Amino acid sequence: MSKSKTVYVCQNCGNSQPKWAGQCGECGEWNTLVEEVLEVAGTKLGQRSAVVPKGLKLSEVAKSQNQTQRVSTTVSELDRVLGGGESGGMVAGAVMLLGGAPGIGKSTLLTQVVMGVAAGEGEGQIVYVCGEENPDQIYLRIKRIKSNAQQISGKDKGNQNTSIDQRLDEKLIFLSTTNVDEVVAYLQRVPTVLVIIDSIQTMTTTDLTGVAGSVGQVRECTDRLVRAAKQTRTPLFLVGHITKEGKLAGPMVLEHAVDAVLELTGDRSEEVRLLRAVKNRFGATDEVGVFRMGEGGFESVTNPSEIFLGEHEQPTSGAAVAAIMEGTRPLLVEVQALAVRSYLPTPRRIGRGLDSNRLHILTAVLEKHLGLPLSSYDVFVSLTGGFVTKEPAVDLAVCLALISSITNQPLPSHTACVGEVGLLGEIRPVALFSRRLKEAQRLGYSRVISHNERTLRSAVQAVGLPTKIVKPKKGV
Ligand code: TYD
Ligand code: MG
Repeated sequence: MSKSKTVYVCQNCGNSQPKWAGQCGECGEWNTLVEEVLEVAGTKLGQRSAVVPKGLKLSEVAKSQNQTQRVSTTVSELDRVLGGGESGGMVAGAVMLLGGAPGIGKSTLLTQVVMGVAAGEGEGQIVYVCGEENPDQIYLRIKRIKSNAQQISGKDKGNQNTSIDQRLDEKLIFLSTTNVDEVVAYLQRVPTVLVIIDSIQTMTTTDLTGVAGSVGQVRECTDRLVRAAKQTRTPLFLVGHITKEGKLAGPMVLEHAVDAVLELTGDRSEEVRLLRAVKNRFGATDEVGVFRMGEGGFESVTNPSEIFLGEHEQPTSGAAVAAIMEGTRPLLVEVQALAVRSYLPTPRRIGRGLDSNRLHILTAVLEKHLGLPLSSYDVFVSLTGGFVTKEPAVDLAVCLALISSITNQPLPSHTACVGEVGLLGEIRPVALFSRRLKEAQRLGYSRVISHNERTLRSAVQAVGLPTKIVKPKKGV
């Protein structure tokens, strides 16, 4: 069998050359040469006889659209992120890339999906391609998740367990290979309901000489898997690694080639994990799924406000509760502020979970309009639960938490703050205010300080904090 022919194509200027080099000979850019297949085993690309494609009428498209039903992943928070509202889930033939740092729980989440789908009604195989781990390891993971599910239910579910074991045995197939062409061949031969590739960085095709994880390999393998998924109309999950810089490893084209890019984030030392869609062809990208990693895998958190709120027995100074929106869901988070006397010529402004530039602006507004001597303070502000927001709706909570920290006076209990603070010291209304208000009231925050107060000064008075603050004395 003749070997496939490959060339190295510059991703910057398109020039191709037979050998790899660090620099493109044509445009002079560095590290832009990527291996691409030119000929597959003796057939030149573009010289194979083309089949005349069958066109589709609008009505035919509409018909197939009506038949497109989403299949639930059985993990409710994952379904929410994938989109589709009430009956959300995976679309047939969709390729979803799940990215995240090592050990964050990508394999665990997908194992739970596999177990849920196996327990369901659908016919066809679930294929788990394990390039990264042994099937033994996945078996242990399944056992761990299962035994815990049993414990939680607190009943003897002996019968049901055998039936899930049976279902898994009937439906789940492990493919212990890293050869993408073998996987594609398998998918074309056997009817499947779900395919997991763990991970795309371990996949290779022998048509390319690059090592696994190289740009050329990742791109070509993704391309072949996407084609197979579309052809067989099977939803397919790709696990992708995150580089040290926090980007998905592999080329950007990987993100272009797939239908959805999901990112699993969270602090490995904390148990909360957030799942976001960075790209989603079949739904919105602003939903966030919230999970808690327990002994038996992920638990969906359907009431996230409760975990993002700090727990204090007494009202504490430096804390304020804000209502932010994550997608369509309002969320109550605690803003914690710490202002301490600064010994630096330029005092520090450090925000965790919020934009530091925004913090600079808010401290300037506080200084100008309330006469707060913030130029003598280092300011640290963070959102509890490792949450990150870009919403200006937290402004008011940040300002009040800061004043509370400086004056050592807590805000009254059962009070939430919602509002954007403008440069003139005014409080501006925020989008979807009534949704936030409802969520705050549901969680027992009977009082919500908002744009109804009009100015920052009157908001400060409304919560009973002093509006006159003296400069710290030297050495305090
Ligand atoms: P894993 O899913 O292998 O992460 P990834 O595939 O993203 O690299 O595992 C993540 C971590 O989760 C691992 O340290 C063990 C832990 N874990 C639990 O805490 N509970 C569980 O039930 C399981 C299966 C794993
Ligand atoms: Mg893994």
